[in-house]
Amino acid sequence: MDDFEKIIRDTYNDICNGKNIGNVADYIPELSCVDPDQLGVHIHTIEGNSYGYGDYQTKFSVQSIAKVLSLSLAYQIEGDAIWKRVGVEPSGNPYNSLVQLEDDEGIPRNPLINAGAIVVCDILVSRLEDPKADFLDFIQDCCGARNIGYNNKVADSEKSVGYRNVALCNYIKSFGNIENEPDEVLDFYFTMCSLEMTCEELTSVFMFLVSSKYRSQQNNKILNETKANRINAIMQVCGFYDESGEFSFKVGLPGKSGVGGGIIAVHPEKYTIAVWSPRLNKKGNSYRGMKFLEQFTSATDSSIF
Ligand code: DON
Repeated sequence: MDDFEKIIRDTYNDICNGKNIGNVADYIPELSCVDPDQLGVHIHTIEGNSYGYGDYQTKFSVQSIAKVLSLSLAYQIEGDAIWKRVGVEPSGNPYNSLVQLEDDEGIPRNPLINAGAIVVCDILVSRLEDPKADFLDFIQDCCGARNIGYNNKVADSEKSVGYRNVALCNYIKSFGNIENEPDEVLDFYFTMCSLEMTCEELTSVFMFLVSSKYRSQQNNKILNETKANRINAIMQVCGFYDESGEFSFKVGLPGKSGVGGGIIAVHPEKYTIAVWSPRLNKKGNSYRGMKFLEQFTSATDSSIF
């Protein structure tokens, strides 16, 4: 851990002193209010050690990072039947793309693009009594924290301009792959994306993807080994949309980004690490987050490959 602590500090200082380019996501108006030059990093190891630097205790909008958690819950409830409704292939396209759905007859390529995450939300709306509350309970069970919640301003802000997601949901429904009313599914989707967490909370929530030690603590409420491995596999190939190959190549960990500027990455059997820096590159992934993780896994020699 001493090594990690020093390397995180050195990497943090390096990244702080380097360029910070790109823009914050402003297509969701409320997200443009964030101070773009914040930077937080936090690591949580399998031994239970944790170490953070910078703005690691500031809450931010996790956006698409939440898709991994909704997928995990749906997979736990639905089992392999989920794969009849959503694929596990990288799309090679932007997160909000509509183009492949026609050829694929309404079966999204994977659960981490918006189309796939909307289908996962539909599954949860069908299977949960109170999807918003039950989803929060699941997250809180993962880490024991009770103060994780949604930001209704962000959810309403996205809802007021979310035409593309409305189009995706309606188009998928036209193929029969959405069971519920689009308004209800989208209301849950926008709320789920508005989830707020700190880097510290993210690393602790995602420990269930590192080790069975953290899964069994939850009385098996969270995924078994095979399912956890498969969620990591999906993050590895689909977590950064049309930049997933680049992230695999440079960082070498399963991970997931969000347009709030956060990235979570998982080293199975070793650690989770979260970085938050709101300026995004052209693919919608945190500019400094990508750089930080590339430098960190190189310095610690901890790519999984
Ligand atoms: O649906 C959207 O566009 C957002 N709620 C989430 C997109 C996102 O975070 C993409 N990630 N990099």
